Amino acid sequence: MKNRIKTLLLALLIISCSKPGKLETQHVLGTIGERAMVVSAHPLASKVGSEILKKGGNAVDAAVAVQFALAVVYPNAGNIGGGGFLVYRSKDGAVDALDFREMAPQLANRDMYLDSAGNVINNLSLRGHLASGVPGSVDGMVEAHKKYGTLPWSELIQPAINLAEKGHIITEMEAKGLNNVQKSLLENCTVPPTNFSKEWVKGDTIYHKDLAKTLERIRDNERAGFYEGETAELIIEEMKRGNGIITQEDLNKYHSVWRTPISGMYRGYKLITMPPPSSGGVALIQLLESVEPFDLSSMSHNKATYVHLLTEAERRVYADRAEYLGDPDYYNVPVKGLLNPEYNRERMESFNPEKATPSDSIGHGQPMLEHNETTHFSIVDEQGNAVSLTTTLNGSYGCRVIVGHAGFLLNNEMDDFSVKPGVPNMFGLVGGKANEIAPGKRMLSSMTPTIVEKDGQLKLVVGTPGGSTIITSVFQTVLNVIDFDMTMQEAVDAKRVHSQWLPDVIMYEKDALTEETSKKLEEMGHKLLDKGNIGRVDAVKVLENKKLEGGADPRGDDFASGY
Ligand code: GLY
Repeated sequence: MKNRIKTLLLALLIISCSKPGKLETQHVLGTIGERAMVVSAHPLASKVGSEILKKGGNAVDAAVAVQFALAVVYPNAGNIGGGGFLVYRSKDGAVDALDFREMAPQLANRDMYLDSAGNVINNLSLRGHLASGVPGSVDGMVEAHKKYGTLPWSELIQPAINLAEKGHIITEMEAKGLNNVQKSLLENCTVPPTNFSKEWVKGDTIYHKDLAKTLERIRDNERAGFYEGETAELIIEEMKRGNGIITQEDLNKYHSVWRTPISGMYRGYKLITMPPPSSGGVALIQLLESVEPFDLSSMSHNKATYVHLLTEAERRVYADRAEYLGDPDYYNVPVKGLLNPEYNRERMESFNPEKATPSDSIGHGQPMLEHNETTHFSIVDEQGNAVSLTTTLNGSYGCRVIVGHAGFLLNNEMDDFSVKPGVPNMFGLVGGKANEIAPGKRMLSSMTPTIVEKDGQLKLVVGTPGGSTIITSVFQTVLNVIDFDMTMQEAVDAKRVHSQWLPDVIMYEKDALTEETSKKLEEMGHKLLDKGNIGRVDAVKVLENKKLEGGADPRGDDFASGY
């Protein structure tokens, strides 16, 4: 049954809170799991994950299975042709982070998306073969499984193979997505993707026969099933046909990296999150440190005082992001300085509670209104191990190239580099030296897979897609739980706002701001922009009674599968 309906059935009446910041309505719970929980963007992927857990697999086993299942049932962001980040916390509190972000090919160079006059060539970093970084997802899953997995590798891939081979029935949202992307796939693929090409309606079945064969090679040969042999040959042939630059050497050289997660404290809660090349973890902790001195719970949720404060913190933090964040293997990111609570407090000294501070006016673009790219899932297993994993092709359906006869989409992650200083990428984000293109470098990301603990106990597993809005969606979800005492489902459902320094606007979801709030914000000097949906948060909360509450985002087909 759809989560939304379940949510209503599970509604619990709790005494209304009198503080203005607290919800004055019923507390609505999401899906409850007695022992384990998987929340992802697709019901079939969530079910694959919970089946693995029921078989005795741990959270990492389930994460591997969900990653591959999403590559089949959620091709707009689930992937084997992209990359991602995984944050792990064991039942004993040990933490780890896996960076399987894509890398720039060896033939990439700083100015590869500029014409001879130094102008950015429209769409070159977004569509077609040149837009793709070297994929990291398969290597990442192999590494995660080697270090923490318990079930045999083949058992984790088989459910995805079955879905690809036997097909699956699509929802209305999926049909719309497939219909919208048809033309672009035909323009960019060198081998027409016959299994994608039809007018789709809800209830149709889609099959992925080529992908099933690729997944079988990965099942049988692990890393070599993708980076060597037939799959690698198909990738290289695809690159040759489409004038791409990824070579066999790039595939050989690709390796994911285990990194130490970064952490920070907020009102006694410990945040464990992704270090660079994610900007998300650093920015999330900076944001929390910036607002900690303020009594948020005495402010009304999404009213002018609150939205103004968040916007002003976001303006400052995103300005830092543009200047300082990039691949730490290539650029000395001043993480310690940025995470210093004193530093963030000082940055907020210029905060005026009555008035917006105009952002500096370096070039900015119009961020995309579509934002289902990237996908996140959160898992807690029976032992209490947790995985927070965000994975991406960057834009929806990546660079729109399906590797001929291999059945999977390539990413368009090269657009996450700063293609020219000060020129915004598709999320309107600007950058400079720290995030310029170099061979083998990883492009800066906003993905923010995060785990929260309190007094050494697991509390929250959270993350979302949404490009530049990822950071602020995770930020607001954490505030919703900690400062506004929302259930997981309420925290996920709550309307979101977003601001990122440039462009100098507050983006908002429909109904996030009342007319009165909008008017007040405009009087303070803010510009407002209706952004449609912001984010698709999938998260798990550990309740006081140790049961798990899955919050699946109603903005998509997202689904919590617990038991
Ligand atoms: N491709 C979106 C991100 O990594 O931020």
